[in-house]
Order: sequence, then C-alpha cells, then structure tokens
Amino acid sequence: MKHSEEKYADPPYPRDRRGRPDRFYRTLDRLVPALERLSAMIGPASDPTPVDRDLAVRVSRIDRPADGVAALTLEAAGGTPLPTWQPGCHVDVVLPSGLVRQYSLCGDPGDRARYRIAVRRIPGGRGSGEVHGLAEGARLTLRGPRNAFPFPRFERYLFVAGGIGITPILPMVRAAGRLGADFRLVYTGRSRASMPFLDEVAAVPAAGGGPGPRIEIRPDDEFGPPAAEDLVAGIAPGTAVYVCGPPPLIEGVRGALPDLPGLPLFWERFSPPPITDGAAFEVELARSGQVLRVPADRTALDVIAEVRPETPYSCRQGFCGTCRVRLLSGEADHRDRPTGGSSRREEIAICVSRSGGGRLRLDM
Ligand code: FES
Repeated sequence: MKHSEEKYADPPYPRDRRGRPDRFYRTLDRLVPALERLSAMIGPASDPTPVDRDLAVRVSRIDRPADGVAALTLEAAGGTPLPTWQPGCHVDVVLPSGLVRQYSLCGDPGDRARYRIAVRRIPGGRGSGEVHGLAEGARLTLRGPRNAFPFPRFERYLFVAGGIGITPILPMVRAAGRLGADFRLVYTGRSRASMPFLDEVAAVPAAGGGPGPRIEIRPDDEFGPPAAEDLVAGIAPGTAVYVCGPPPLIEGVRGALPDLPGLPLFWERFSPPPITDGAAFEVELARSGQVLRVPADRTALDVIAEVRPETPYSCRQGFCGTCRVRLLSGEADHRDRPTGGSSRREEIAICVSRSGGGRLRLDM
C-alpha cells in the first residue's frame, strides 16, 4: 500500500458518485456481523491461517524504477512459498527499527516465491527513509497480506494512478488485461523520470491483445496537470473506477464522475483523510495524568505524538489497528474501520477517532 511513505486505504467498500458507501456493500456490511456470529456458534470448520502471522523475509533484490523510488523483492527466509494474494493487497512491513508501514504488493500474484513492494522516499519520512537505507540481504518481518482495496470482477474498469499510486493498480491492470476485460488506465505523475514501472505498464496487453491505446501515460511536465473531467471522459455505466494517488486526484475523480448508474468507486490514499466535522476535545493520558487539548483540525494521534514520540502508528487512516489504545472512560466517536478481535467499547483508534462529547481517558 504504500508505495509512498504511508500507504493507506479508505474503508474497503466502493462509493457511489455521491461518496456514500455503495448500497450492495452497505448490505454486505450488515450481513457480515450476523454471519460472524453464526460462524462463532458453529465453530471453525478447519484451522484458519491468521493473516497476522509474522513472515520472515529477506530482501533479495533492490531496484530503482524511478527517481526516489526503491522496489524491493522479498523472499521467504526459509524458502517456503509465500501466502497467496490478490491485486490490491498490501502487507504490513516491520522495519528493523520496529516501525510498521503498509505497502502494496506490486509483483505477480502467481509467484509464490517472492513479493515486490515499491516505496517512494518522502523527505522527513521515517518509514520510507528506513526502507531506502536497506541493503540487499536485509531481513524484515511481514504481516498479511491483507486486502483493503478489493478488486472484484466488473464488466469494465477505469484505473487512475498518480505516481507511486501505480503500485496497487499495476497488478489490477495486468489482471484486467489477462481477463480480456475492457479497461482504460490513466497514469499521471510529475515527469516520466518520477513514474515507476512505465515499461511494465506499457507491456500490459489491452483487451484483444497488444499494447493498448487504452493506456495513457500523462506526465505533468508534458501534458500539464490533468483535468479531472478528462480522466473520466467517456466513462460508461457499469464501469468500476479505481483511483490511487494523492488526495486531490482522488477528490477530483470523485467529483467529476457523471451522474450515471453503476459507477462504483474504489480508492486508496497516500495520506490521512481530511478531518470532517471535527470539534476540539481533551484526552487524558491516564498513566501520567497529563491532559492534552486536541484542536478541531488535528487528530489525537498528532497531539499525543508531540509529547510521546514513541506512540505507535502506521496507516493513520483507521484501518490497521496499530494506534489503538484502551479507552478507560469517555464517549468515543469511532471513525476507524473495525477489524476482527477488537472491541470498540474498550479501544479507540486515536489516528482518526474523536470524542463523542467530553474528555477521553486513555490507558497510556
Ligand atoms: S494508525 Fe492505523 S488505525 Fe490508527
């Protein structure tokens, strides 16, 4: 997932053109808890393979597919086959310092011998800086893969990738090409030199075979920044729209989608979502008694990390669970994406969640 410093995803269901969760997925969301309860009553049919298991891997190769981008090939330390994955999956990478970052898998899902991730170096970014300092032979720990950017079968696709955002999109485009699906890819970036995997993108066959006219490479220094309307021009009903890139690209595509039926929108961000409907509140760090004020335009994590720089976090978008702490008292406005095993009554994801009124007392 992150191909950039921090790789993030929004809630993993598509949105309609007004930004609301797609009705099908809303229904699914309601069904899943009931099915989970039923499953718990019945008991497991077989031992599930937990995605949180630690996978020891070795960096077998480092490439530089673009300016400021390192592509790491990772192989299982014991040579055993790696877990399967689908386009859109990411892994949690535990770096030697203990930092955890998410990066999209951008290699071949059919290759169980190796994974590939690509990371753009972000000035001042601790995670990306550490990745860029790794050497071939380095040992890392992975968790996952997980899928927060699902890629179900649709009749046709529009893919829009911005810079390092090509990483989750590339396996999707390859799969669409292999399946003979009707698709269009628009790949944008500052310049060709900054855009990784241009050669691999150009080699993707379009429906019917051969390099596709449906693949558009649009560096800003040649064409100017793309207008969002151009990115979605000619889109037909029944097209699944996938966007990965900086927030303005995602917002632009979202706002430019025409009012047509059946345009599910999936996106993945590089940075935390903007705070909406934020109000100031207080958090109390119970172990020290320190009380901090969280302004309306900042997150609790931002404020706490200033006085506790060691506070763990990763996605900063409420889906990985790294920043969750025990909530001792107070009413939370939970804005994270719940994952299995967590209790919303007892824990709070401080990267996105806020107070539902009054002070929050945290076990930290
Ligand atoms: S940092 Fe991932 S949920 Fe908060």
